[in-house]
Amino acid sequence: MQLINLFDFEERARKKLPTPVWDYYSSGAHDEITLKENRSAYDKICLRYRVLVDVSERYLSTKILGHTLSMPVIVAPMAFQAMAHPEGELATVRAVGGAGTIMVASTLSNCSIEQIMQVASGPVWFQLYIYKDRSVTKSLVERAEAAGCSALVVTVDLPVSGRRERDVRNRFALPKGLQMGNFVAPEMASMPKHADQSGLTAYAAALFDPSVSWKDLEWLRSITKLPILLKGIVRGDDASMAVENGVDGIIVSNHGGRQLDTSPATIEVLREVAQAVNGRAELLVDGGIRRGTDVVKAIALGAKAVLVGRPILWGLVNGGGDGVAQVLDILRSEIDQAMALCGCCSVSDITLDLIGERIAVKELS
Ligand code: FNR
Ligand code: LAC
Repeated sequence: MQLINLFDFEERARKKLPTPVWDYYSSGAHDEITLKENRSAYDKICLRYRVLVDVSERYLSTKILGHTLSMPVIVAPMAFQAMAHPEGELATVRAVGGAGTIMVASTLSNCSIEQIMQVASGPVWFQLYIYKDRSVTKSLVERAEAAGCSALVVTVDLPVSGRRERDVRNRFALPKGLQMGNFVAPEMASMPKHADQSGLTAYAAALFDPSVSWKDLEWLRSITKLPILLKGIVRGDDASMAVENGVDGIIVSNHGGRQLDTSPATIEVLREVAQAVNGRAELLVDGGIRRGTDVVKAIALGAKAVLVGRPILWGLVNGGGDGVAQVLDILRSEIDQAMALCGCCSVSDITLDLIGERIAVKELS
């Protein structure tokens, strides 16, 4: 079967992957309500397209924190990419650089941040989990900066791991031979098979710091010159706090439905957050973005760009770096087509008036 959209890649990946890996990558917390709604919320929004606009030339590029991207799509941080393809994050970063956009490298990558940066041809941001041991955290930040990462993405929606029941049933652990590449000490680099829960939940409980609060941002600011983005915000008041605390960017995200189940679909809260941020920081969104029209909707509602998660893994499974490049190409051509059909020649033409809702039939007067 020819893979012509992101769902085709997903279906093919599902057939190829061992069940525990498919489950870890694809699942959400508890009843997976948020996981589903992240996606279905996009379908409830309609696009009020404009006609008779000259769209013969279209520009997808946009600028974020000083980087010019070829399109408003960034690759979300995702742990353990070597389960999808032996080259793991190295394949991803090559493809993402080739596509002219940014990769966010996870703290929990299988390759180290130094290895990733060695083959990177474009910008890479480092996603940070804050460890209880602040010397470990500090050293991660220093290494990311020294290796050439151009921003820190601090994930704030995981004080504890969400309960992903498929991982619990599978007693999810890293397959033999794979490690967390940023660490050497065995208790940090590995995730032993746990007797009665997800190994990742046990790892996070042992090492990540659930006491992290706004004051820790000050500390982070004091140890790095890199721009800081917070990932995992779904409320306007939290976004305002973040801006007041000096962050450079906000990522509206619910971790792809993997943390708090029944948290809102991200596209539903984007407008509220955009109003709170009011241009004072870069605004990005992720969760459930699978079509070019989703990207247009997110930008119309106030995001500068989107992050895409799982489809990148499905690309990796189906052809390594080439698969990732294909996924990004498909998304690019869908965005281009959606812009043309909406009457938009550039990303700045994508404005709020394009947004409509699928509402019940209005009463005729
Ligand atoms: C993630 N996500 C994530 N986020 C983060 O900050 N650090 C991480 O290490 C990971 N790891 C991770 C692994 C896997 C397998 C998935 C699916 C997700 C969350 C990710 O960055 C992003 O927020 C969501 O994946 C976006 O939703 P979609 O595009 O996957 O629907
Ligand atoms: C996840 C963690 C690693 O979502 O962020 O699996």
